[in-house]
Amino acid sequence: MSRRYSNELIEQIKEANDIVNVISEYVPLKKKGRNYWGCCPFHNEKTPSFSVTPEKGFYYCFGCHASGTVINFLMQEEGLSFPEALGKLAERAGIPLPEEELTDVERRQNEKRRRLYEINELAANFFHNCLTKTEMGKVGLEYFQKRGLSRETIDKFRLGYAPDSWDKLYRAFTERKIPEAYLLKLGLVRKNDNGRVYDYFRNRVMFPICDGKGRVVGFGGRVLDDSTPKYLNSPETEIFNKGHLLFAFDKAYKTIRRTKQAILVEGYMDVISAHNAGVTNVVASLGTAYTKDHGRLLMRQAEEIILAYDMDGAGRKAVRRAIDLLQNTDFKVRVLAMPDGKDPDDYVSNHGRDGFLTIIDKAIPPFEFLLNQAMIGHDSTDMAGKQAILDELFPFISHTENSVKRDSYLRALALPLWLDMGTIRQSFKEFTRRGRITLVSEAQPVKTLIEPDSDETYIVAQAVQFPKAWQMVHDYVEDKDIVQEVYRTLLATCGKVLQETGGLSSAALETVLSEEEKTAYSRLLVLTDTQFDEIRLEESIRRLRIQSLRRQYKEHSIAADKMSRAGDTAFIEELKKCQEIQKEIQEWS
Ligand code: CTP
Ligand code: MN
Repeated sequence: MSRRYSNELIEQIKEANDIVNVISEYVPLKKKGRNYWGCCPFHNEKTPSFSVTPEKGFYYCFGCHASGTVINFLMQEEGLSFPEALGKLAERAGIPLPEEELTDVERRQNEKRRRLYEINELAANFFHNCLTKTEMGKVGLEYFQKRGLSRETIDKFRLGYAPDSWDKLYRAFTERKIPEAYLLKLGLVRKNDNGRVYDYFRNRVMFPICDGKGRVVGFGGRVLDDSTPKYLNSPETEIFNKGHLLFAFDKAYKTIRRTKQAILVEGYMDVISAHNAGVTNVVASLGTAYTKDHGRLLMRQAEEIILAYDMDGAGRKAVRRAIDLLQNTDFKVRVLAMPDGKDPDDYVSNHGRDGFLTIIDKAIPPFEFLLNQAMIGHDSTDMAGKQAILDELFPFISHTENSVKRDSYLRALALPLWLDMGTIRQSFKEFTRRGRITLVSEAQPVKTLIEPDSDETYIVAQAVQFPKAWQMVHDYVEDKDIVQEVYRTLLATCGKVLQETGGLSSAALETVLSEEEKTAYSRLLVLTDTQFDEIRLEESIRRLRIQSLRRQYKEHSIAADKMSRAGDTAFIEELKKCQEIQKEIQEWS
């Protein structure tokens, strides 16, 4: 959080960026009443519990409690820092951010990132030109053509060739005054023990790796024959994080959004062949396995994920891991068990687009995949084999949150294993006991209903927005009238801000509210209307007070009763309090 920006500037930037417009670029929103609603981009859901209030410029998710202003949204959604998000919104609205607002460190970092993107861009052009325009690149071009890629695909993916020379790129780039340090950092060149600098990628066909915005962040380079290592990849840098990135996502997301389906494969060539054949909702996790961040990336666009990994040992393991991570999310998952150990690239090359689409249609649910794999791996005719198969499937079953599904899985084992249900259930029980596994119960359905406007909610909502309301609450409402503790601390913090700044601007509040208070604050703004309404507020305060006094009356009368039974004469004090409260209730009524 930065305090270097004036609250006025922050407010100005927020006002210039309509929160509904900005969020709509990421999530479709629909107007319902005063607010806009959509499916929360921060957790997986199908029924909208994510609400935006345009008048107040806040969002709140009733499912996962994500909340905040348009600035927080960008921070959360794009993983930006506060100044970065602010900068982006300023740019979007054409508001110049005073340069002085950046620290020297930030300015240097920004400049460095800009340079890294720029140099990678130049390198992509360099390799692509080598491939398509030079004599030495011919071998590369022939290689891609032999693998069936059209010229259009080669251009679309900006495929390239790294010349078979020690330092062609290095010399070309240093001539253009590109600092060696950057080239080293990006892994485009290396330095040997004698201090000699040489090109890292040599005599390889090149695959530029782009981020979601299509900026080149790294490269993969493949040998043209069977030598090893088959692939070299750029190192991770501040602009290249493999776990956050899906290869070709920038080229696939439109189709993924349209078809609601993403096909996840393992390799560069699997992706490119599919796109080459016209199947354009295909992406790859880069050498690394599928991660939760990949899911987050896909979540906004896809409802279904098809796992189309190689069916070798590593691929099967990767599928299992992905199934694990995808279990109990809202994604529909299916697994494509590629026939006879082929990868998707082989399959597309041999059977074309229609063949590929046909086997995608036949992709099977994860449970079926795991069962098939287990049946292949063990002899289901003897008891030890049956037990091994059960043990392979029980982890998946025990992690299934839906108890009806869990039971149907257990039942699905009976026939292929020739076991009766009693035996299977008994064995499953033993398994969960052994592993001390508590079966997850059905996830609580997310409450998407807005709670009925309680007086407490209304009062606090008014008090955190309007100084006059805060004053009224301060004058008439006692701490113990407010049931929710976070509201009490929120009111206290607002009081401090009011005293210090003379107002209750959300920019000022944002710098001092605790995380919990911030969440409560956003939620209140989403829940209630905008205007200061003195009459309604008075009415609510009255009801709240009476309710609270009745509560207190009850407590004291219970205490009095207990004491008098125990022969404690102090019960008289309690009764007196009851009388006082009774009087106060009458006054308020
Ligand atoms: N990979 C890698 N380094 C290696 C081998 C593989 O980074 N030495 C990554 C690459 O992203 C590659 C993916 O893992 O695309 C899958 O590897 P593999 O199946 O061996 O390669 P293919 O994609 O099938 O490549 P090709 O068809 O060109 O042989
Ligand atoms: Mn392959």
